[in-house]
Amino acid sequence: MDLGHQRNGIIRDYEKLSFEYVPDVLIHREFQMQRLQTIFRPILHGIRRTAVLVGNVGTGKTATAKRFCQTMERYGRLSDCNIAHVVINCRQKRSEYTILHAILSYFDPNYPRRGIAQEEYVRSIQKHLSTRKMNMIVVLDEADIILKKGANDLIYTLTRLNEDYTENYSLSLIMISQRHLVGNLDQAALSTFCKSNVVTFERYNALELRDIIKSRVDLAFYPGTVSEECIDMIAEASAELGDARFAIELLESAGLITEEMGLTEMLPECIREAKNMTYSQGSNELRLSNLDLNRKLVLLAICRSMGENSYATSQDAETAYRIASEECNIKPKGSTSFWKYLKDLSAEGWIDQKSLVDPAGAGGRTTCIYVNDFPVKDLKLMIEKELNLIL
Ligand SMILES: Nc1ncnc2c1ncn2[C@@H]1O[C@H](COP(=O)(O)OP(=O)(O)OP(=O)(O)O)[C@@H](O)[C@H]1O
Ligand SMILES: [Mg+2]
Repeated sequence: MDLGHQRNGIIRDYEKLSFEYVPDVLIHREFQMQRLQTIFRPILHGIRRTAVLVGNVGTGKTATAKRFCQTMERYGRLSDCNIAHVVINCRQKRSEYTILHAILSYFDPNYPRRGIAQEEYVRSIQKHLSTRKMNMIVVLDEADIILKKGANDLIYTLTRLNEDYTENYSLSLIMISQRHLVGNLDQAALSTFCKSNVVTFERYNALELRDIIKSRVDLAFYPGTVSEECIDMIAEASAELGDARFAIELLESAGLITEEMGLTEMLPECIREAKNMTYSQGSNELRLSNLDLNRKLVLLAICRSMGENSYATSQDAETAYRIASEECNIKPKGSTSFWKYLKDLSAEGWIDQKSLVDPAGAGGRTTCIYVNDFPVKDLKLMIEKELNLIL
């Protein structure tokens, strides 16, 4: 079958909807691009710079950083200055050692991974940079992961890389995080990341998402297959999270559903179905990953104590919380903290609480906890998986 010549559906270019694809222009991120250019302009003169990009899920941090580095490389070529960049995802490379190795792999993909002292890594990187008179930008994406463990050493090492320098190279750093990471750094590391170099990415509003979706539709779909009405619907649906990734995911699912149904144009119904699918898979996991360990354990405890019932009592949930903590080898927090976690989970919309007269008749009150909107069994499994309590 020759798929090349036959138009089978409404999607013209699937690649343009993939996570790896970085658009040429990041709409509504002109301010952040401009800020980055102002911060990093000195590297054209061999001066190292640092910046931290902070913002919620899907606000364009990674895409902007990648596009920005490519722009800097182009400027470099125009001014006869060797600029290069490497993006390292700290979810995949979690230690100082593997991060240094990833930088070295840019120069030498076969560089041995084992049996080399860290010092040797540093010297090799310096040598490569110096030989090439290179100004390198290292992007540490999802840096929260290493910063939670304390990444001061890594920051010293990367800063130190510039120190013995012979004035013909530099190593700059961009750290990307979903949270303000300054609190995780000690004073010396903080001074490296002076406050003025924090670039903030706000959540997108519905109008901004609309523009982002529209331009992705033009890139990825055949003309006339996705109406303005559909674009509006997707923008509205993703505006609550302000998340462009969610919007593009929704656009892609709705596109695939349209094709599956054999339609030649996307219908609102396809978006509704895509929304159901995306909500049940993606966004719960995402929201869950934003909870800290204790709150996850409390949520798990609630799900476990509910069993087949429509609610859990606070007493049962607290007992289940202690058991779950022990399963994870952590010391459970006391009652005051437990109640605080319940309050936070309520505030975030995971649960509802109702206070009732104690059914045991002792005159006290008991609190019934309800899980909102989520299938309890699925939620329980999802948390257990995340905490490695089951395979
Ligand atoms: N302004 C924009 N214009 C066009 N596409 C965008 C824009 N912002 C984000 N996107 C797209 O949305 C998706 C998510 O963006 P990105 O990966 O940069 O988010 P992020 O802030 O790094 O999120 P996370 O914190 O989850 O890593 C990507 O596919 C990206 O191409
Ligand atoms: Mg990212």
